[in-house]
Amino acid sequence: MEIKNQRYCIQEIPLLDIAKKYGTPVYLYDGNKILDQVESLKKAFSGVKMKIKYATKALSNISILKLMRKAGTGVDAVSIEEIQLCLHAGFSPEEIMYTPNGVDFEEIKKAVEMGVMVNIDNIPMLEHFGTEYGHKVPLCIRLNPHILAGGNSKISVGHIDSKFGISILQLKHVLKIVQAYELQVVGLHVHTGSDILDAEVFLKGAEILFDAAREFKGLEFLDFGGGFKVGYKEGDITTDIQEVGKKVSAAFRDFCKEYGKDLEIWFEPGKFLVSESGYLLVKANVVKPTPATTFVGVDSGLNHLLRPMMYDAYHGVVNISKLDGPERVYTIVGYICETDTIAADRKLREVKEGDVLAIKNAGAYGYSMASNYNSRYRPPEVLILDGSDYLIRKRETFEDLIRNQTVIEL
Ligand code: LLP
Repeated sequence: MEIKNQRYCIQEIPLLDIAKKYGTPVYLYDGNKILDQVESLKKAFSGVKMKIKYATKALSNISILKLMRKAGTGVDAVSIEEIQLCLHAGFSPEEIMYTPNGVDFEEIKKAVEMGVMVNIDNIPMLEHFGTEYGHKVPLCIRLNPHILAGGNSKISVGHIDSKFGISILQLKHVLKIVQAYELQVVGLHVHTGSDILDAEVFLKGAEILFDAAREFKGLEFLDFGGGFKVGYKEGDITTDIQEVGKKVSAAFRDFCKEYGKDLEIWFEPGKFLVSESGYLLVKANVVKPTPATTFVGVDSGLNHLLRPMMYDAYHGVVNISKLDGPERVYTIVGYICETDTIAADRKLREVKEGDVLAIKNAGAYGYSMASNYNSRYRPPEVLILDGSDYLIRKRETFEDLIRNQTVIEL
């Protein structure tokens, strides 16, 4: 978002025009920013054979998936439904990795039948896989590296208490199963967490993955998961992707030499690719002074953007209806019957009823975590690409709310 001709714009399109055309609340994505992020990741790892498996769950609109495909990424999916979405968007089964957790073997079988590689995350399912497929179906194994890293406890998933992955301490057990069933393990995977800013964490993960990989013959790739941190706040430290690329690529090249094979390195970023591209445009319904705080009540809330409530996440907010004039301190709250504070104590240009606020970093885990709580409709999604705007999902209607309800006669 930039200021052009005294208006906040994306690619020369004023955001206020988008709010007028599609109404508020509305999710808005800058497609060219997404393409730039893909390119910078590719550049960072240009010295090795790198594949991007975009974490579908971050933003799973079909047009966004198509954009990723056009940019040359593959995808990581975490449910059969996400696999179906990816197939629908044109990805071939070979471009999809399935990384479930806590699913039954039926779901794993379904993915295999769809021709999708499965990333197995626990020992019982590894044994089921062996019994069912033996050496016939290639697979990936998700290891838990026992590294504590990530933005907060809910999104730090590589530690010893986490439900994700097979503990690295259980590697011997894994190897026994692999031998017993002659499993065709072609990949090993770790995902340490989300919002990781230090290249050293990826290097630590790499060392653990290399150690494990030494025990496996026939590997084709190592998957380092996602987790690159993007800036949410002015002055935030973020992952320096070129630095991570340089350091991890060097370590990876050394390992490939030792392993005697030019392996592929995979990443599954979500936030890095789509977070900063997205804005949630909301309208100020009411400006409510109280003895302690001046609240701005907007036409959205935790039903549309859960992150502030779920993770105490910080999202920047801008009053895009005002470019100048005095600034005041406000707490921006939703219209949901919960204490759904979107942003506390923020300095904004003076807000008046009807002003439009842009909530930043809404691309990742925004719409995809939205709900119908309080029986509110989910907003439309709009994509701006190469200077044009496209409606890529309509606003819900009352029909959507009642569609699957069967009403009993009383
Ligand atoms: N790979 C795996 C196996 C994952 O579990 C995740 C995220 C990713 C990749 C992508 O991580 P990213 O690059 O987006 O950090 N809803 C939370 C984040 C949950 C992430 C879950 N797994 C949030 O809004 O902060």
